[in-house]
Amino acid sequence: MKKRIGAALLCGLLLVMILTAPPRGIADSGGTRQAFLQCAGETVPSILIYVAFLVLVYLVIHAIATRKGRQERAKSPDAERTIPEKEDNMTDYESLAAQAKALIEGVPHRTANLANLSALIYETLPDLNWAGFYFLENGVLVLGPFQGRPACIEIPVEKGVCGAAVRENRSQLVRDVHAFEGHIACDSASRSELVVPIHKDGVPIGVLDLDSPSLSRFTEADREGLERVVRVIETEII
Ligand code: SME
Repeated sequence: MKKRIGAALLCGLLLVMILTAPPRGIADSGGTRQAFLQCAGETVPSILIYVAFLVLVYLVIHAIATRKGRQERAKSPDAERTIPEKEDNMTDYESLAAQAKALIEGVPHRTANLANLSALIYETLPDLNWAGFYFLENGVLVLGPFQGRPACIEIPVEKGVCGAAVRENRSQLVRDVHAFEGHIACDSASRSELVVPIHKDGVPIGVLDLDSPSLSRFTEADREGLERVVRVIETEII
């Protein structure tokens, strides 16, 4: 960057010197150069003209260099491997599962453990606006410990993404909640959702529910990772 500015200023200076130097072998009166200097000199001091000219030259060279850089990056074979936006959201689930286990291992308080786990998940995964649990009570999913805005207290299993996870007994990865028929919007900011069923003796008894304000926030890697965390819950708590 510094080199580019230096080169631009040097070019500008050379051009100014060429334009303002008396032409060799020609009388220094009249002519385009003289007319220009006289005309400009009537309105602004000539030093300002030089400065303006230097700035103009710098801007042109900078614009050309930036464009060239962009074209080179686009042509580079590495361009296709540019880290996609979503990789910003990559979570180390091995570490998260280990932390989850360490947090709840040997603690005989179910609500406290689930509350801590919701906090751990909410703090660890970027771009969430809700993370928590629902558990079945008399055939209805009832709100458990969570982080985020206050949420719906009861969800019938026939309804919502949470209901689908229990009914179908499999994780629901919803890239756009508005496209999911029956989605229940506890928070209008939610745009994508991941729900993982929690089992006891192989039967779903509740869900871990995550919401994000971003479209397509969750990937298959998130689904697998959170299923791993849920296995810790099933082993340690349920
Ligand atoms: N969106 C869920 C409801 C629960 S909230 O997101 C916390 C659903 O459709 O089941």
